[in-house]
Amino acid sequence: MNKGKFITLEGIDGAGKSTQLIWLTEFLQRSGQNVVVTREPGGTLLGEKLRDLLLDSSLTMHAETEVLLMFAARREHLDKVILPALARGDWVVSDRFTDASFAYQGGGRQVETARLETLEQWIQGTLQPDLTLYFDVPVALGMTRVSRLKSADRFEKEQTDFFQRVREAYLKRVKKFPDRIHLIDSTQSVEVVQAAIKHTIEATLVANIQ
Ligand code: TYD
Repeated sequence: MNKGKFITLEGIDGAGKSTQLIWLTEFLQRSGQNVVVTREPGGTLLGEKLRDLLLDSSLTMHAETEVLLMFAARREHLDKVILPALARGDWVVSDRFTDASFAYQGGGRQVETARLETLEQWIQGTLQPDLTLYFDVPVALGMTRVSRLKSADRFEKEQTDFFQRVREAYLKRVKKFPDRIHLIDSTQSVEVVQAAIKHTIEATLVANIQ
C-alpha cells in the first residue's frame, strides 16, 4: 500500500506558489491520490486565529513572539491535520512549513538559527517533508507580483532588504538540503513552471504516483 507523502511549497511573497498549489493538487488528484491541501500559518481553527494575529499589520510583536506563535500554530497543524492525513495514506500539500520559519524569522528577522532548530526538534522531531518545492524569484519581481487588490499584511509591508534576507535564507536551505528542497525558477511562464513541477515530482516521488 502506498504511504502518504508530505509536500511543501515555499518562496518569498509574490513567488507565485498559490497558482501552482492549485495546479499541483489537481495533478496529484489526477494521478489517483487523496490530497489534503493546507497552509501555514493556519490549517486548523486555532491556527487560522493565530494566522490572523501574525498577519495583522496593525500589531507589532517581538521577533521571538512571532517565532513562538508560528510554531504554536504548527504544533496544532501537525496534530490535527498533517499527521492524521499521512497516517491515513493521504498526500498532504502545505502552502509553507518550517522552511518558512528559517527564511522569514531566521533570515528576515535575524532570529538565531539554533533557536529555530530547537523548536523544530521539539515540535516535529524527525518529521520532514518528503519534498519541498522552492519557487525562486528575484525580490523586485516578487514585490511587484504581491496582490495589489488587498492591503499589505504585516509581512508584505516589509522592505526590500527584509525580502532579500528571506530569499538568501531560502537559497541557503536549498544548498543544505539538496535531496529534499528543489529550486524552481519561478520567473518562467506558468506552463514552464508546471512542467518543472511535474518533472520534479516524477523524478523524486515517482514510485508513489504510478
Ligand atoms: P502567504 O503564505 O504568503 O499567504 P498569502 O498568499 O495569503 O499572502 O502568507 C503567509 C505569511 O506568513 C508569509 O508572508 C510568510 C509568513 N510566514 C512566516 O514568516 N513564517 C512561517 O513559519 C510561515 C509558515 C509563514
